[in-house]
Amino acid sequence: MILSRLQYPIVLAPLAGGPSTPALAAAVSGAGGLGFLAAGYLAAHEVRRNIHAVRYRTSAPFGVNVFVPGSPDVDERAVRAYVERLRAEAARYGTDVGEPRFDDDDWEAKLVVLHEERVPVVSFTFGCPPADVVASLRAAGSEVWATVTDVVEARIGRDAGVDVLVLQGTEAGGHRASFRDRDDGEGLGVLPLIRIVTAEIDLPLVAAGGIGDGAAVAAVLAAGASAAQIGTVFLPAPEAGTHPAHRAALAAERPTALTRAFSGRLARGLVNRFLVEHGSDAPSAYPHVHHATSPIRAAARDRGDADGFNLWAGQAHRLAKELPAAEIVRRLASEARVALEKAAARLGR
Ligand SMILES: Cc1cc2nc3c(=O)[nH]c(=O)nc-3n(C[C@H](O)[C@H](O)[C@H](O)COP(=O)(O)O)c2cc1C
Repeated sequence: MILSRLQYPIVLAPLAGGPSTPALAAAVSGAGGLGFLAAGYLAAHEVRRNIHAVRYRTSAPFGVNVFVPGSPDVDERAVRAYVERLRAEAARYGTDVGEPRFDDDDWEAKLVVLHEERVPVVSFTFGCPPADVVASLRAAGSEVWATVTDVVEARIGRDAGVDVLVLQGTEAGGHRASFRDRDDGEGLGVLPLIRIVTAEIDLPLVAAGGIGDGAAVAAVLAAGASAAQIGTVFLPAPEAGTHPAHRAALAAERPTALTRAFSGRLARGLVNRFLVEHGSDAPSAYPHVHHATSPIRAAARDRGDADGFNLWAGQAHRLAKELPAAEIVRRLASEARVALEKAAARLGR
């Protein structure tokens, strides 16, 4: 079990769409945490290249995270209506709306790369692969982790034979990991999720969502998690590929919200103009909407306009500081230790 061999129970969240880099993953693994590469949105050959780049930098274990493909069936009329709405956005940024289409994010080819590269950990989001895929990755030498957002998904992961469950609370930045894009109210926060899953399922748990400092790491460890998976706090690290306008927005006093405006799947980001103007009209249609907004988001990024692209961030984003990734790992660990000692002292003997 990789988790029991880590110096610190700190996992870098996979951060698809730019922030995830081999340098960031290697820095976290090299500092005694567990670095992760995001395979989402990349071609399989790019994933292989990134795996080699991490191995070049460190011999420490790391993970690769893959999107499980969803269903191509969406409400075509709702997608067409949303595309019409996006035309004014495209004109504002001097570009066109992208073609709304389904794809499986190069699923089969990525599985081939992962079987061949035998990375220490393979984690999944947006679903759990069938038991035969889990078994063949394990046979190739990888540990398999499934990301879940409720106890029903946790049971599916357990029954598919995964080694570890990553529990993603609704506080988390980026896409909800749920197996289907669904309206489940606000969704479970990370602490109730840990306790509810622990009561029923006997697997190591990694907790994610809104963990902004070491005291919050201490909280999820005390609640029963084996490690904390942290995303937003690493976005300002110099090793991350985070866009400068996204970095600047993280420090601001802005709320976050769940939205489908950018991708057609619920995700948490900082509230900006695009999210406010389109959030309530965006259909549940991933990755169709992702492809439709792609040129608009790219053009907004090119202009450095933080009001025109997705600024994924968790609820604790105000706590993120620009520090080297290894320093973030060490600080989280030492703060967590202090917080646990203080908490124990409060309880007396
Ligand atoms: C920019 C960004 C990109 C993300 N990309 C992925 C991804 O590719 N795969 C995944 O499983 N989770 C992804 N997530 C979610 C994280 O795995 C994790 O659940 C989340 O970052 C935890 O909450 P926090 O950001 O408050 O720490 C992403 C999150 C962010 C902020």
